[in-house]
Amino acid sequence: MVGMDRLTADLHALCEFGRNEAGGWTRPAYSQVDQDAHLWLASRMEQAGLATRFDGAGNLIGRLEAQPGGTQDGALVIGSHIDTVPRGGWLDGALGVLAGLEVARRLLESRAKRTRPFEVIAFRDEEGRFGPFTGSRAMTGKLDLTLLPTMRDVDGLYLSQALTGSSLSTTTFATAAIPVGAISAYLELHIEQGPVLEAAGKRIGVVSAIVGQARFSLQFQGRPDHAGTTPMNLRRDAFAAAADFASHWRKMIMAEGKGVAVGTVGVVRVEPNAGNVVPSKVTLGAELRDIDDLRLNRLTELTGDLARHSAQDLGVEVSLRVTHRTQPALMNGSFQAAILDCAIRRAYASMTLPSGAGHDAQNFADLVPAAMIFVPSIGGRSHCPEEATDAADLDAGLNILLDVAAGYLST
Ligand code: GLV
Ligand code: MN
Ligand code: MN
Repeated sequence: MVGMDRLTADLHALCEFGRNEAGGWTRPAYSQVDQDAHLWLASRMEQAGLATRFDGAGNLIGRLEAQPGGTQDGALVIGSHIDTVPRGGWLDGALGVLAGLEVARRLLESRAKRTRPFEVIAFRDEEGRFGPFTGSRAMTGKLDLTLLPTMRDVDGLYLSQALTGSSLSTTTFATAAIPVGAISAYLELHIEQGPVLEAAGKRIGVVSAIVGQARFSLQFQGRPDHAGTTPMNLRRDAFAAAADFASHWRKMIMAEGKGVAVGTVGVVRVEPNAGNVVPSKVTLGAELRDIDDLRLNRLTELTGDLARHSAQDLGVEVSLRVTHRTQPALMNGSFQAAILDCAIRRAYASMTLPSGAGHDAQNFADLVPAAMIFVPSIGGRSHCPEEATDAADLDAGLNILLDVAAGYLST
């Protein structure tokens, strides 16, 4: 087996971890199945000739040293993740990590010049079970370590509980931060996860920037009452307020977001969650994304205004907490030019586009030159079992990743 066949075989082998009978894959970060998948990946890396290690956040690093005469610092990193959202697809993250592994194999087989180290990294918890990009933020020193004991998943399980029985604990995360200079550049191949490349008939996407995000937890506090005896005008219905907010919020984003900003209420928790009790408390998990940071600030302000307005109208209290905020991350211009150039040389139709999804790459963008290559998602589908990409497009993405990585390592 060579090249694309090996990548396809690895992608299919990874599919054996966390496959859902009802469709899709569920590999929650720091779960047993996530750990099993990482151990399998470590053995694939070692078979390929990489030296492997897990850092204090559980990130898996496979490393090739530079050839004799090269430098020991300033590794080129190809990274992504192998955790998934619940019932997610088989390519989100997995493609980037396993393509990085295939690049390592090809570099070794072709005896390509390597003037510096090369690392393939599978970052833990990119999907944010315990918080967005837990692994890559720990590695880049962007994770607030004091928050680790308080980090919980959507079911209330603490990170420390998920780590029980593993060699990791919330105190090991501090050791994951890498020293300045350990990495010199970062590349990530990913599926687009949206419809733009397919609609434009392009095979390769060059990412210009990754959106910034604001995530919120909103709590609407009303009063529990009998659902049959309490007149409509005397209720303090927390769900009615939350629903009113969600509906106005969506319209506000469509009006103010200039067709670019997006907002999602993805988590709804109703208490006491009983059919015959007026809901007393509703917690919403919501997020806003935009490539324009100033507009993201403005939309965040309007979010608070709307929540207070809905709460007041329905006679309930509301509190809003910003749980996570990232700035838009610009991708490196020289790498973007190199990706475009490689696509032209291989006669792949390409275009430049921003990323609406978050990626581990954004945590490296202010530290080292960082870049992303996208390949099309069929029907624009992702974060769902139907996620797919044409084999020819996967092959094109792998080739460009290899070209850019080999070019960088040779100089
Ligand atoms: C990651 O998949 C994200 O964009 O939320
Ligand atoms: Mn991803
Ligand atoms: Mn994802």
